[in-house]
Amino acid sequence: MLSKSIFATQFLKANRSSVVLSLRTFSTDQKAKDPYDNIPDSILSITQRKIYKQDGHPLSTLIEKIEGFFGQGQISDLHIPGEKFKVFSDFPPLVKVKECFDDLGIPEDHVSRRITDTYYKSRDTCLRPHTSVHQIPLMRAGNNAFICVGDVYRKDTVDKTHYPAFHQMEGVRTYDLKTLGVGNVAEAKLIAERDLKQVLENLARLVFGDVEMRWIDAYFPFTEPSIELEIFYNNEWLEVLGCGVIHDKVMTRAGKDITNEVGWAFGLGLERWAMKLFDISDIRLFWSQDPRFITQFKQGHITKFKPYSRFPTCYKDLAFWVPPHFNENEFFQIVRHVSGDLAETVECIDKFTHPKTGRESQCFRINYRHMDRSLTNEEVDQFQVKLRQLVASELQCELR
Ligand code: DAH
Repeated sequence: MLSKSIFATQFLKANRSSVVLSLRTFSTDQKAKDPYDNIPDSILSITQRKIYKQDGHPLSTLIEKIEGFFGQGQISDLHIPGEKFKVFSDFPPLVKVKECFDDLGIPEDHVSRRITDTYYKSRDTCLRPHTSVHQIPLMRAGNNAFICVGDVYRKDTVDKTHYPAFHQMEGVRTYDLKTLGVGNVAEAKLIAERDLKQVLENLARLVFGDVEMRWIDAYFPFTEPSIELEIFYNNEWLEVLGCGVIHDKVMTRAGKDITNEVGWAFGLGLERWAMKLFDISDIRLFWSQDPRFITQFKQGHITKFKPYSRFPTCYKDLAFWVPPHFNENEFFQIVRHVSGDLAETVECIDKFTHPKTGRESQCFRINYRHMDRSLTNEEVDQFQVKLRQLVASELQCELR
């Protein structure tokens, strides 16, 4: 949910060219890898960091606050008797593709499943792109009310609000007709939806204060109906979560009796919340090891981040003729592979179509910045040389 929901926007993206791309990892190491493995070492090392558990980290404070809310019992005015929410936050990010996509009703040709969007370890395993993967197994294990937090991974654009790793929280609650005091499922679903809205409005109010809110219709394959909550914060409408009444197929797969049980689920992107609450304008700061970042925060306190002076950026442009199957995400991945975290933004600054040949040329500007020191021109030139090589060899783009 940090980048706009993979479902709403990526269904749109799906209409773009859909060519099967060869599997590439751009890996320079010589270890024998599964041919499906497209996880660069830089991402693998991130899976070890667990910043959301780091004392004082803004994500950790935010999670603690939300956990506190769900731990307090009565969180909606409907007073539905029920259990306290359990918290799960230790599931490893490597998950089964089946549980992540198929079981949640995500179609086989959905764009989020492409190798250009998801990090695969093998044909059957991937780094979770959302915490929704844990819904069904947790319900099947007998949990009726829980939240689940974890790091999630998606190949994405390179800019201040996108990073290939971020964090989500999932929440689920199910109940039977007797608990809800109703005689049929249709009625029960209406109550579930009211309960869901109340819970999430109360949560948003606790975290963001007395903000204006609105509900927007949405689409997720695993909920019906699906909705999104927006809040008016700092003079703009901000989408803060996606949710809905759990789809019958999902309930069935979770071992629930859909003639007697209903439930709701939500998912939210924690960085999106924390960036607003703590005034953190660049998502990469969450991963910063610079003491000037972490020492500004204290566990349990939401305080505004004071930007420290940063080292200057250095930009380089790269222009090439794009082949018909060109996929920007693959290009971004190469940029990341070559420069690690140092590429701060990559933007297309010019596009033109040759009047005679009809070929399209694109020019990308890459802004490099080191968080802890000035970059030398030579260093950046080396990135560019490598980038040019890989763009030509891996993406079959003719350089200009
Ligand atoms: N998994 C969705 C995403 O990453 C977010 C989400 C939406 C989770 C609706 C849910 C839900 O549990 O009911 O965009």
